Amino acid sequence: MKNVVILISGRGSNMQAILDQPSPAFRIAAVISNSAAAPGLDVARAHGVPALAVEHTGFATREAFDTALAQAVDAAQPDLVVLAGFMRRLTPGFVARYQDRIINIHPSLLPLFPGLHTHRRALEAGVKVHGCTVHFVTPELDSGPIIAQAVVPVLAGDDEAALAARVLKQEHILYPRAVRWFCEDLLSRDAGGRVRLSGDAAAQAQIAAGAA
Ligand code: GRF
Repeated sequence: MKNVVILISGRGSNMQAILDQPSPAFRIAAVISNSAAAPGLDVARAHGVPALAVEHTGFATREAFDTALAQAVDAAQPDLVVLAGFMRRLTPGFVARYQDRIINIHPSLLPLFPGLHTHRRALEAGVKVHGCTVHFVTPELDSGPIIAQAVVPVLAGDDEAALAARVLKQEHILYPRAVRWFCEDLLSRDAGGRVRLSGDAAAQAQIAAGAA
């Protein structure tokens, strides 16, 4: 059974989706937030998961914060670090420490719309499909090897909130699955560094992407 540490900054609905879909392949060893006010911390505690804050405001530099964060993460002995709405840019040193065992969910079909305000930008661009992406984290923002994506239609009359809600529903399906696939050792990399899925991960990923 693998140890998973989840990093959050806010409401933690993706974290909750992972907690609500347990698997014999992993246990959530800790939830850590950069803000003690993150509502998701109480949700984690209600699930009996150790939850703590390492407040970024208490540190003079990004490096100092990431060093303290890494200490808290390492205390839980993680096999996998899951970013779930964690809104701090991580230093290259932090990312390197967890190389190939740190993943993120981003609310767009990467490489489209990295960064913030993805739903607004998707509407402005007039794209007809939108979605979310689970990817390995690399030092460059929202650009690591893609594990899985889920597609939703952009409908006439959509506003930012409606589109965000449609995408979030898919995030809550896709992210728990991706965590499980990692913990079941169903993810590998090809010579180009791209992610290959095996077993039921491959079939489920095709369904999420609208191919089946
Ligand atoms: C999600 O849309 C996720 O894709 C993005 O931040 C949001 C976090 O929401 N990275 P929640 O805290 O999981 O509810």
